[in-house]
Amino acid sequence: MRKKIVIGNWKMNTTIEQAINLLVDIKENLDDVSTTIVCVPYTHIAVAQEIVDDRIAIGAQNVSQFEKGAYTGEIAANMLQSLGVEFAIVGHSERRNIFNESNEVVNQKLHHCFQNDILPILCLGESLAIRKNKQHLSFIKEQLTACLSNVNEEQIEDVIIAYEPIWAIGTGETASVEQAQEAHEFIRSEIANMFNATIANQMTILYGGSVKPTNAKALFQASDIDGALVGGASLNAADFVAIIKSI
Ligand code: PGA
Repeated sequence: MRKKIVIGNWKMNTTIEQAINLLVDIKENLDDVSTTIVCVPYTHIAVAQEIVDDRIAIGAQNVSQFEKGAYTGEIAANMLQSLGVEFAIVGHSERRNIFNESNEVVNQKLHHCFQNDILPILCLGESLAIRKNKQHLSFIKEQLTACLSNVNEEQIEDVIIAYEPIWAIGTGETASVEQAQEAHEFIRSEIANMFNATIANQMTILYGGSVKPTNAKALFQASDIDGALVGGASLNAADFVAIIKSI
């Protein structure tokens, strides 16, 4: 059985005080068996770690592609590791589009994660124009190949992939179960081609893009959808916990 999980991505939201309240709320509503990862802003990581118990892991939303040095404002993977952070999102479409991160940069970030025992949550997905041109599968393949360059079989086992079609992020428009399942099945088959079928079968592939309590269950019933990366709805404890419980 592969691991199913719901991960929250708070993006650039919440003050420390709001973050504390939100985490306490999530903790109180989560049942004993549910677990989750919440990716909070860098500034909140240490405080958040103090609040959570072993049902909630605190992750980062990004990591630098550089190891250390004169990179003002950047946060290195070994800094996250020294805080005890075990997960980091890499290659989110907002990083790619607003901060011009290329597949090559995403690949460098992945390798820094591996070198520092951080499990990367690799995001990929196509724009609306690419989907309208019916090029989404070849685009996903290109992203996978470039982002996973020089990743070996041992390292790939640590990667969680999040398929996030850009047109569904923060727009309220979710991919249909069929659209998401098609992309997930394709990603799994590409992982089998690049590595092997056992690795592909064990890989956790999350869907992201306007996941809500009302659509989570149907998405999670698809055979290749192993959970979700949740943005907006992870800022509301009741909604986020309802999504987690839909797994
Ligand atoms: P959304 O964001 O759930 O608000 O669409 C998802 C994401 O960006 O990871």
